[in-house]
Amino acid sequence: MSAAILSGKEISQKILEELKKEVAFLKEKGITPGLAVIRVGDDPASIAYVNGKKKDAEKIGIKSYEHILPASTSQDKLCALIDNLNSDVNIHGILVQLPLPSHIEEQAIIERISPDKDVDGFHPINVGKMVIGQDAFLPCTPFGIIKMLEYAGIESKGKHTVIIGRSNIVGKPIANLMMQKRNPGNSTVTVCHTATPNVSDYTLQADILIVAAGRPCVVNADMVKPGAVVIDVGINRIEDKEHPRGYRLVGDVDYDSVSKKASWITPVPGGVGLMTRAMLMYNTVLAVKKANS
Ligand code: GUN
Repeated sequence: MSAAILSGKEISQKILEELKKEVAFLKEKGITPGLAVIRVGDDPASIAYVNGKKKDAEKIGIKSYEHILPASTSQDKLCALIDNLNSDVNIHGILVQLPLPSHIEEQAIIERISPDKDVDGFHPINVGKMVIGQDAFLPCTPFGIIKMLEYAGIESKGKHTVIIGRSNIVGKPIANLMMQKRNPGNSTVTVCHTATPNVSDYTLQADILIVAAGRPCVVNADMVKPGAVVIDVGINRIEDKEHPRGYRLVGDVDYDSVSKKASWITPVPGGVGLMTRAMLMYNTVLAVKKANS
């Protein structure tokens, strides 16, 4: 059996097309959605992510305001910038690209952003609201995974979802969303992490397997139940001298072997990463609508 491809490219394009119409409608009413993107330092992956976000914003008519700060920027300076953006009426969403340099306390920065402009959904107020099922900005990667399942019509109710990874950005929120009493969701959730012995004991039981380990080839075909839906959140750079960029991108899942066993699989690139970007745009438009409601 060969898995069907759960294409982030196709689904994110549909979402962006719908958002473009909404942005055009907002502009007719005299409102231009504004997204501030802050990058501190020159981490190559962060540069690529921020460029991708800017490109999506431009494509659908959202105005992006880029703030590139040196790696030596102090926490106070970064806080002062966030304070300005919090009170700027032209800015509806604020995103600080993570990770930040080690001298900056990441959680303090996340909490400095107004919960009303927290389009990443990382502020404890939004996290808390999400956990109790209230209206909130949902973190973009888990939200993107939910949208993928929805668009593909993949049933999760009553299924066993196994997640590898317990990060605040992906593992914890997707575990929460997949167990909530709504669809997609309504599944029985197991979370595996670095202290889980014999991970394959769990992954072999997964109807839906979500892998956010942050390491290449964490899951191979021997760890996957035939017919499982496999969502690969990983984006790892592997040195490849023959590639024009000098590296290629691979996920956390061994795609070649797992795609022969799964019923659905997300590719890397072209999978969850594009959905993360699309849901950031979705949250920015949502922030505009909330601010004007
Ligand atoms: N770094 C990796 N993923 C993300 C994300 O979704 N948002 C932000 N702000 N930084 C990230």
